[in-house]
Amino acid sequence: LKRKKISVIGAGFTGATAAFLAAQKELGDVVLVDIPQAENPTKGKALDMWEAAPVQGFDSHVRGTSNYEDTADSDLVIITAGVARKPGMSRDDLVQINQKVMKSVASEISKYSPNSIILVLTNPVDAMSYTVFKETGFPKNRVIGQSGVLDTARFCAFVAEELNISVKDIKGFVLGGHGDTMVPLTRYSYAGGIPLETLIPSERLEEIVQRTRVGGGEIVNLLGNGSAYYAPAAALVEMAEAIIKDQKRVLPSIAYLEGEYGYEGIYLGVPTLLGANGIEKIFELELTNDEKAALDQSAEAVRSVMGVLE
Ligand code: APR
Repeated sequence: LKRKKISVIGAGFTGATAAFLAAQKELGDVVLVDIPQAENPTKGKALDMWEAAPVQGFDSHVRGTSNYEDTADSDLVIITAGVARKPGMSRDDLVQINQKVMKSVASEISKYSPNSIILVLTNPVDAMSYTVFKETGFPKNRVIGQSGVLDTARFCAFVAEELNISVKDIKGFVLGGHGDTMVPLTRYSYAGGIPLETLIPSERLEEIVQRTRVGGGEIVNLLGNGSAYYAPAAALVEMAEAIIKDQKRVLPSIAYLEGEYGYEGIYLGVPTLLGANGIEKIFELELTNDEKAALDQSAEAVRSVMGVLE
């Protein structure tokens, strides 16, 4: 049996962190890829990680490259390539720049790893997932965006701190888009099976939800230069592990919808079953009127970003 192969495209903060976590978990051999101008730093990061292997005792090999031939026959590809929004750049500019990056990355992946499953992190993640889906022509179960695992993790981290209960016992649940347009389902959120709504007063719970919504911005403000990467990388690797180990996890994914929840032809955050075939199922839940209205807003936001795609 061959060891699994994971390519991480974009060797920046998130990509490098995800690569290291994936290697530490021995999910497979890891190929870290960046643009030719960044080839040496990419090789350096990968070599540095590989030199940690004897200390940490992982057998996953890590190498850096700017040549997509080295990614050939990857089982899983994680895309973190792109640019972050800089002062003076409009949101639409960002969409178009990252769309070009997604197009070039997608064509290389479909050329060298036509059977791979792709996880997309690059923002705006719903529109970027859609771009990769269209460019690769891969089936929808094999092009998956990340945002809900991160949003849920943030929510659970805040709740664990609030209640002084282990993070292991906190389960959160979100639908919809990333950040502002996230739709938290607090009625499906628990501490050790006990509904959170019975443990935290509703006003306080709403404050925690609001902090989660702007969780990305909180990190941006604190870092002063750049955006979150430890928790985003951890979220990617949790999804990667579910797929590589065929764990059949129920995790939120940005998935291509064809009628689910009443939406057609867009990528949106929904609960999914993740296993060896990528998204193996989309769970459809009964929503309250308020939740449905919030999800509609989320879908509208996605459509408005998609309107900027070229
Ligand atoms: N091919 C490969 N790599 C690319 C390409 C490309 N065409 N274009 C840019 N990159 C690389 C950059 O050289 C850089 O190393 O992508 C990397 C991005 O890394 P960072 O700038 O450190 O950004 P990071 O914080 O990791 O965020 C990456 O994830 O959370 C999202 O919004 C965030 O879209 C952003 C992405």
